[in-house]
Amino acid sequence: MFSKIIGTGSYVPEKTVTNDELASIMDTSDEWIRTRTGIGERHFFEASEKEKTITAALRASERALCEAEKKGLRRDEIDLVIAATCSPDYAFPATACVLSDRLSIGPAAAFDLSLACTGFLAAFSTASAYLASGISRNALVVGVDVMSKFLDMKDRSTAILFGDGAGALVLSADERFDDGQGSGVIRSILRSDGSRAGVLSCESLYKNENAGGELRMEGRPVFEFAVREVPKLIKELCEGMDEAPKLYVLHQANRRIIEAVAKRLSEPIDKFPGNIEHYANTTAATIPILLDELMRGGSLCSGDEIVMSGFGAGLSLGAILYRI
Ligand code: UT7
Repeated sequence: MFSKIIGTGSYVPEKTVTNDELASIMDTSDEWIRTRTGIGERHFFEASEKEKTITAALRASERALCEAEKKGLRRDEIDLVIAATCSPDYAFPATACVLSDRLSIGPAAAFDLSLACTGFLAAFSTASAYLASGISRNALVVGVDVMSKFLDMKDRSTAILFGDGAGALVLSADERFDDGQGSGVIRSILRSDGSRAGVLSCESLYKNENAGGELRMEGRPVFEFAVREVPKLIKELCEGMDEAPKLYVLHQANRRIIEAVAKRLSEPIDKFPGNIEHYANTTAATIPILLDELMRGGSLCSGDEIVMSGFGAGLSLGAILYRI
């Protein structure tokens, strides 16, 4: 018994910040950002807005739930809520607990999971394992991050990279998986290398007004880690498959990373959809936002096998082979 996606949703705040707007407050340019990253703009919450993470998660979840309800699911049938986030509004209560209440879900197990850019993959794997074991029947899984909380607008090497957003999906146990037909996680691998944690870190959840943002990153080692390790992990994940996956839904951190991964896998770049141009890196939200766009755009059909893969702080990485 495995997990079928019966609803997806995503949300980014209204305010758009273009590369040119950033270039007016720091020493950078639209040309540099586009050629080095593929990013054209990002969305940020207004600084004054309260409960930014919860708001983004709620909006994305409402959309996913609306679709699941059209397929006959009732909110009280959802018995698991996992929010992947490294930028919660509160140290506690967990974002997932607030979501369950405001969405009238449950009674449900609800908890947050923090693994930065790999967070959504960890949450998706966990929810699938709960469904596969029979502990839960229906799950809401959210990837949400509000990176504008951390950004130091004086640090051009990180400020240009990130955006705010959320993606959500509703998973329902699919008993047909055991017959080799239904939807679910075929394989999942999560890894980490804590000895390299220092190259991408954030010491405090909350911005220190005197010292600026707390996000620190050495971009080059993270870039090299992703380009080297992600293709290796995907090859391991797909070993023994008769056919190559239909699509690769990768964490949107840098378009050049995705191009390098495609090349190392000897796969055409059009199997690697992307939206980094519009949203930048929304951390735990990149994969579910992209998944939502693909599902709603009709790019994925029942039976398609896809790879999702993410990487980032930890250093951590993960890959899931999933049948839609
Ligand atoms: O989700 C996981 C989190 N993070 C990532 O995945 C990030 C992975 N890393 C990257 O995407 C890339 O390393 C970056 C986009 C962050 C940087 O690109 P790069 O090609 O690795 O550039 P670099 O750090 O080697 O810097 C090249 C030059 C430097 O100038 P000098 O020393 O050559 O004179 C930087 O100071 O570019 C300069 N630079 C900039 N110039 C204009 C760095 N940031 C900027 C900027 N605008 N925003």
